Amino acid sequence: MNTVFFDAKMSDEERRRQLYQGQLFAFSPNQSSLALCQVAHELAQEAFAPHDPREAQYHLSVEKYVEILASLKPRFIHHPRCKEMIRDLFGEMGCDLERTYFDVPRLRTMTHGNYLTAGLAYAFHPHRDTWFSAPPCQLNWWIPVYDIQPENTMAFHPRYWDQPVRNSSRDYNYYKWNKESRREAAKQIRIDTRKQPRAEEPIELNPQLRVVCQPGGIIIFSGAFMHSTVPNTSGHTRFSIDFRSVNIDDVRAGIGAPKIDSECTGTTLRDFLRGNDFVRLPEDLAVLYDGQTPWLARRHLSETPSESLI
Ligand SMILES: [Fe+2]
Repeated sequence: MNTVFFDAKMSDEERRRQLYQGQLFAFSPNQSSLALCQVAHELAQEAFAPHDPREAQYHLSVEKYVEILASLKPRFIHHPRCKEMIRDLFGEMGCDLERTYFDVPRLRTMTHGNYLTAGLAYAFHPHRDTWFSAPPCQLNWWIPVYDIQPENTMAFHPRYWDQPVRNSSRDYNYYKWNKESRREAAKQIRIDTRKQPRAEEPIELNPQLRVVCQPGGIIIFSGAFMHSTVPNTSGHTRFSIDFRSVNIDDVRAGIGAPKIDSECTGTTLRDFLRGNDFVRLPEDLAVLYDGQTPWLARRHLSETPSESLI
């Protein structure tokens, strides 16, 4: 059974327990989430001026659009205030800032129709983040910047919560991906040629669940939950913010969603920063999740995380 809890008043610990069992959470906008959206809005408005960011795709060549995104997205990720806003958001959401770690928030775009569906606006086929080296306790936070509709939100596929899917995650190593594929993102305009984990059997998209919340509303789900990008037929480009969190006690204890079909190696855990002071997750914990490639992990430590795609 999957439940969507709306504005649930429960402790972070209980919420995590529910999320690890496949429940979903949606929250009304709060001060911190709205502040994050405001930063995204201002940067997008500036980048696409004089066009409305939601309609700029109708006025620009796809090459120009990609060029703008290639500059806009890192500017959001590295915005000096974004980390503080995540910290404030955790505070508002009842998370223990000393025990909750997060990765930097990303700005995502999903253009209407077939204008741009690769690289920097990749339309995500159904997947679990745990196919991409996310730990079982990873939680995904997703926030729309502008109004969304069923036609430009994201979709959840609940039947696969406890149903394994044959997939190609065995070929995915997070450190190799960082090294070889991320820098290619801006070059992928019409077809994305980068090899990513995907289902190797047909996926039944229905039943599916689409949650529509207000701009600044917050959707939280387990990284193990099968989800996908809805083909955007809304007429407007979707802008959304997302980031991930882990609780260090759950990392240490190996608690999280059931691991039913992930065979990837490497871990994203070294990308996570502590909520109160942005110190990286301890290496002795990250190494427990490395899988089979610790030598690559050491190399990864010296590299700066760039655009994450999942
Ligand atoms: Fe994802």
